[in-house]
Amino acid sequence: MKDLQFRRHRRLRGSASIRKMVRETHLHPEDFIYPIFVVEGTNVTNEVPSMPDVFHLSLDLLDAEVDEIVSLGIPSIIVFGVPNSKDDVGSSAYDANGIVQKAIRQIKEKHPELTVIADTCLCQFTDHGHCGVIEDGKILNDPTLDLLAKTAVSQAEAGADIIAPSNMMDGFVAAIRFGLDEAGFTDVPIMSYAVKFASAYYGPFRDAAHSSPKFGDRKTYQMDPANRLEALREAESDMEEGADFLIVKPALSYLDVIREVKDFSGFPVVAYNVSGEYSMVKAASQNGWINEKEVVLETLTSMKRAGADLILTYHAKDAVRWLNESE
Ligand code: PBG
Ligand code: ZN
Repeated sequence: MKDLQFRRHRRLRGSASIRKMVRETHLHPEDFIYPIFVVEGTNVTNEVPSMPDVFHLSLDLLDAEVDEIVSLGIPSIIVFGVPNSKDDVGSSAYDANGIVQKAIRQIKEKHPELTVIADTCLCQFTDHGHCGVIEDGKILNDPTLDLLAKTAVSQAEAGADIIAPSNMMDGFVAAIRFGLDEAGFTDVPIMSYAVKFASAYYGPFRDAAHSSPKFGDRKTYQMDPANRLEALREAESDMEEGADFLIVKPALSYLDVIREVKDFSGFPVVAYNVSGEYSMVKAASQNGWINEKEVVLETLTSMKRAGADLILTYHAKDAVRWLNESE
């Protein structure tokens, strides 16, 4: 034993102070984008049953929520709208007085410094619940592009700082870039849901946004969870079409994809820690089976370690509070 040579990794783990000195990955309040759900009506604050602590808020209650987000130091929110009226072409998505447009105007008036991201899709606004125009039970790619560009322009007109198209039609970044530029919004960035898998983890969001497809599924336009090289092709086409940020979604089952997209693109990469990932953690912690704070911070750290620059997460407010505690 006397001459046995081996490396003692434990030397760097001996105290909280040393562990902090050699820590490679850090979470900061600026890393987070917080999702909010806005609805028509007054005095509405409905908790989403499958997403504890996530609420549908009417506009009269929105200011208090946004004040809290700003005071925590979270620099950015993404707005999802749940409209009152739906039709087969999702008209309320590109109505200047749609719920999302009204919410953005109100938020930007009170908090011009907050970066407001608009989710750009049609599924919350179509009566059939798909992300595009339907004909004979099929989702049509090209006719959907015009409607997406129209939606993006109306969101930019309302004051959106970033457009985040989530619908996975081919060419959607090009169509939206063209539409924004033509309308004079050349400086509004596109945060593309470039790599979006057809995932069962979106279930709670679809309850929240009332956006489940009424027939079929989204597998003809969202990606097969088994595909890694295809993720790079999706990222590549969005880069060519003018995307400014690339989202990988979901996050936790796709950490390998986050790493590859980051290394491949060099672009700012956003991990979307989706609803089902959130609900699992909430359910287990409500049962006392896991320590919520530790599990959430470990999970979010893993996304940054995998290469995400930003994390879109329903845990953002709690995470920032916890980070401040441990300072
Ligand atoms: C709709 C959209 C979805 C999410 C964001 N935008 C769901 C879907 O594709 O059905 C998922 C978000 C989440 O699960 O948290 N285009
Ligand atoms: Zn959609």
